[in-house]
Amino acid sequence: MRIVRTVDELRAALAPHRSGGIGFVPTMGALHEGHLSLLRAAAADNATVVLSIFVNPTQFGEAADLEAYPRTEEADIELAEHAGTHVVFAPSASEMYPAGFATTVSVGGALTGTLEGAVRGRSHFDGVATVVAKLLLAVQPDRAYFGAKDAQQVVVVRRMVTDLRIPVEIVTRPTSRDADGLARSSRNARLSAEERTLAAVIPRSLRVAQDAFASGIRDTSRLTALVQEGLSEAGVDQEYVEIVDADSLESLTVIARPALLALAVRVGEVRLIDNVVLDPRSDDRIILERSRA
Ligand code: PAF
Repeated sequence: MRIVRTVDELRAALAPHRSGGIGFVPTMGALHEGHLSLLRAAAADNATVVLSIFVNPTQFGEAADLEAYPRTEEADIELAEHAGTHVVFAPSASEMYPAGFATTVSVGGALTGTLEGAVRGRSHFDGVATVVAKLLLAVQPDRAYFGAKDAQQVVVVRRMVTDLRIPVEIVTRPTSRDADGLARSSRNARLSAEERTLAAVIPRSLRVAQDAFASGIRDTSRLTALVQEGLSEAGVDQEYVEIVDADSLESLTVIARPALLALAVRVGEVRLIDNVVLDPRSDDRIILERSRA
């Protein structure tokens, strides 16, 4: 496995491997099982696997959040190698944003104005879109792999790739979860033992809404209320709990097409996000059974 720090080194390292297919997993490091499952998926689909590790300053609103973001490069490199990575691209901030850098890739409209965009500001997604565009241009992969936990990020990246006609397939993999259902996240490392136990209320509350949805409830205010109740009872601070169209991210009052139930909460100092898809089409069996009864 090679570790490269500059775009020039990266391009030289990848030049002999272009024909066999290049799979790319962009990360901010602090690798966990979710990242490793993306790397393994990339290794299954491509002859060459590239991992990037870059804590992107332009997507952080609060300086304290950027400061506190875990940085574990040595351990990441070891994990990446075992997961089948061939090249690690770990640039410095000045390599990604040299003096005079003045370009921003900005995805507009509802996609970036809602959910995370409403709380963290559109500038968060400007930061994400700009760095992902730069990384895709640097790696030029055949496929790039993203986790479904960051559902809005995936929608925004897909829009950008379509709009700019960047020749890459965006592959989304299911959210990786711990045994109690908590979505794996680099931020989980910052939870105390007590907070980690408390955080399990997030998947439990989402599950209550999923069960209610499976029993036929389609009214989004009833479904979000179920999640909010679960989180409130546990004393977890809520930033948002919302149900939006899974493609357009527009707010829904009734679920008649695939929807995203997404939330952001704070457990102690740590901000966590999660989501599930509520898809009426995959619920036909339940509806049919009920109509027969
Ligand atoms: O999901 C992340 O870790 C980041 O947002 C990404 C895609 C690596 C861009 O910095």
